[in-house]
Amino acid sequence: MVRFSNNLIGLLNLLTLLLSIPVIVGGVWLSKQGSTECERWLEKPVIALGVFLLLVSIAGLVGACCRVSWLLWLYLLVMFLLIVLLFVFTIFAFVVTNKGAGKVVSNKGYKEYRLGDYSNWLQKRVNNTKTWNRIKSCLQGGDLCYDFHHQFLNYTVLQFSKQELSALQSGCCKPAEDCQFIYNNSTNWTKGTAAYNNTDCDAWSNDPNILCFNCQSCKAGLLQNLKTDWKKVAVVNIIVLVFLIIVYSIGCCAFRNNRSENWKY
Ligand SMILES: *[C@@H]1O[C@H](CO)[C@@H](O)[C@H](O)[C@H]1NC(C)=O
Repeated sequence: MVRFSNNLIGLLNLLTLLLSIPVIVGGVWLSKQGSTECERWLEKPVIALGVFLLLVSIAGLVGACCRVSWLLWLYLLVMFLLIVLLFVFTIFAFVVTNKGAGKVVSNKGYKEYRLGDYSNWLQKRVNNTKTWNRIKSCLQGGDLCYDFHHQFLNYTVLQFSKQELSALQSGCCKPAEDCQFIYNNSTNWTKGTAAYNNTDCDAWSNDPNILCFNCQSCKAGLLQNLKTDWKKVAVVNIIVLVFLIIVYSIGCCAFRNNRSENWKY
């Protein structure tokens, strides 16, 4: 039992050490590959995660196998902080993404999204001009509305209204329902005579580079997307958290062993 926990910690850290190498390589690959704004924001966190994993694994590996108590202590401290951080982050993200949902539009297959329905914290993030411009250029550069345009190219207004749309397509690629614009095709609409009091209606343009990318509904679509993605991240987080707590407990055993063995010498 005495050696077992040390060996197990050593083995687990060898695994994470091996795992950190592809993560770092992947991050560097991303930085070489990514030409658009959208891919580039990912590379730094990925490389940082890889390096962090590498350092922590080395500390755990050397600490457990070579019985270096202070390294193992440092390892346990970092693990503890990681568990607390991950726990707090998971709770925080749950609270922040809890609010908000798409609104059903009568007689339409798609839903529409309003920024005001989402949490204030998230609203503040996307209302920051610098942040939004970055996200916007990323959405404009992608295939989001291009695909949308081509998919529904020959659809009549009736056929179009039956479609289910993703939150981002509903928010960014078409004008809001209450603008009552006249449909030419999915990304080309003519202003009607009906009065509207939605600022998004003035933000709409048939220019494929503008569309509704300046609309509040586009920001809301993004937040809705975030909300959906978050559910998947939360599951992963909880699994990682359980794994970390198990490793931490074994690490504590190894640490006790180190100390008691040092006593004997
Ligand atoms: C939108 O449709 C109108 C009428 O069919 C057409 O005259 C106009 O050029 C189109 N605009 C764009 C940007 O495709």
